[in-house]
Amino acid sequence: MSVFDRGNVAVITGAASGIGRAAAKMFAARGMKLCLFDREEKLLAEFAASLPGQVRAIAGDVSRYEDVEKLRDSAYETFGAVHVLMNNAAIGHGSKSWGTLPRWRAILDINLFGVIHGVDAFASRMLAQGTAAAIVNTGSKQGITNPPGDPAYATAKAGVRALTEQLAYSLRNEPGGQVSAHLLVPGWTFTGLTAGDQTEKPAGAWTPEQVVERMIAGVEAGEFYVYCPDNVVSEPLDALRLQWSVGDIIEKRPALSRWHPDWKDKFDAYVAARLS
Ligand SMILES: NC(=O)c1ccc[n+]([C@@H]2O[C@H](COP(=O)([O-])OP(=O)(O)OC[C@H]3O[C@@H](n4cnc5c(N)ncnc54)[C@H](O)[C@@H]3O)[C@@H](O)[C@H]2O)c1
Repeated sequence: MSVFDRGNVAVITGAASGIGRAAAKMFAARGMKLCLFDREEKLLAEFAASLPGQVRAIAGDVSRYEDVEKLRDSAYETFGAVHVLMNNAAIGHGSKSWGTLPRWRAILDINLFGVIHGVDAFASRMLAQGTAAAIVNTGSKQGITNPPGDPAYATAKAGVRALTEQLAYSLRNEPGGQVSAHLLVPGWTFTGLTAGDQTEKPAGAWTPEQVVERMIAGVEAGEFYVYCPDNVVSEPLDALRLQWSVGDIIEKRPALSRWHPDWKDKFDAYVAARLS
């Protein structure tokens, strides 16, 4: 038995592109019923029409709670249950530590509040339906090891990690509850978010389908952190980056020491000594 079994229902936000789109295709191929949600109405409708099986497409914005409630009501009215909820929609790029306040608001509204809205709208209904079910929130390594470049995105994704850990705790303490929570942490994946002008997948990136395969395997294995490598960053390298990052606090190093001129070489040596 798996939440991804034929006949089960999946709700996916950000389903018109990238990882959400790949998930929709792969779930449809498994015989799941789908409720797809995206703010790109036309793209979503065309995509939904191309999929086999029972598919509903609902246009809306995850940063608007009433849109997410509409998605929930539509999913339950149409299918009566939700076995997989992927809170996946997000945007990125363009924030700086100061001077970009509108961008901070947009990114936090979508990337953080979008996930909060999904959890708030669906969790109690999913618990009440009395079947096994999974809530998969898409985080990012940027919310965990916090590389410089897009501080609003990293802050939102750090929030997604924290709220999903809290959600897992709350769900496992629900008497008789059968709903689990999972944090999907993709590596570098070739999607609308990362492609820029490129039309060909760079060798280093994973395809969105690889991420979804890893996600299905991770959720079925009961993993909370579904951490994905890519073709550049291996699992052992990810583990060393994680350990170094926590070490900043324990060793009283400067913030983000991996990228600090006095510490960068020490980090490189730390990795080289362990990966040789
Ligand atoms: N691509 C990567 O390398 C990568 C790495 C780590 C994490 N992620 C995460 O994976 C998830 C999926 O991103 P992707 O890479 O597939 O990007 P993508 O841009 O290809 O897809 C994101 C989808 O979300 C939709 N969307 C954006 N804002 C929305 C809103 N307010 N309401 C409804 N829909 C909205 C977009 O229209 C788009 O269809 C995101 O949470 C992203 O942060 C991606």
